[in-house]
Amino acid sequence: MFISIALTIDRICSQEMNVIKEIELEIEKFISKSEVPEDPLHSKNTKDWVIELFPEADSALQIAALGHDIERSIKEKKIKREGYSDYNKFKEAHSHNSVKIMRKLLQNYKIDSNIIDKAIFLIENHEFGGSTEADILKDADSISFFDVNLPKYFLRNTKEETYFRMIWGYDKLSKRAKSIVNKFRYNNIVLDTLFRKVLNMNNPKSQS
Ligand SMILES: [Fe+2]
Repeated sequence: MFISIALTIDRICSQEMNVIKEIELEIEKFISKSEVPEDPLHSKNTKDWVIELFPEADSALQIAALGHDIERSIKEKKIKREGYSDYNKFKEAHSHNSVKIMRKLLQNYKIDSNIIDKAIFLIENHEFGGSTEADILKDADSISFFDVNLPKYFLRNTKEETYFRMIWGYDKLSKRAKSIVNKFRYNNIVLDTLFRKVLNMNNPKSQS
């Protein structure tokens, strides 16, 4: 009897893992259509940083990491920066729009509603945190911005806008995440100098 219960649990777990894999592939497919060139890499890189910061990350947190910016991949529905004078309000609208798209996507799959609710909560709060795991996602997202987005972001935006975006992203990092980002370097001298300015401002004693 114990063997039969164990086999049934195993079967349910492997079915759930297959569904999670399908969800991840659909998110990947969506994001591959984004007009922002770094989006596909950023999605996977955010998931990698989540696992690096929190190896016990569950399916909900990993799905949230992959899909947190999904709204940017749908041109007609994407929230535009120009529509907002307040950058935080722009980011709140961005999170909320990603939630709408992810909720629709997730409801097509037979998975535990707790996983859906948790992934949705984490996406809604990925910019500013609000729980232990939302804080992990916020850190992973922002570390990933400095890790893979920034050089491409700089090519599309002015020095002033890039500097503003770096300060905004750096300020919201936890102490632990700052210690990771502090080690980053950029090949582009102008970008690296700007980055160093942000670090100097935040860590006047540790940076020369
Ligand atoms: Fe992001």
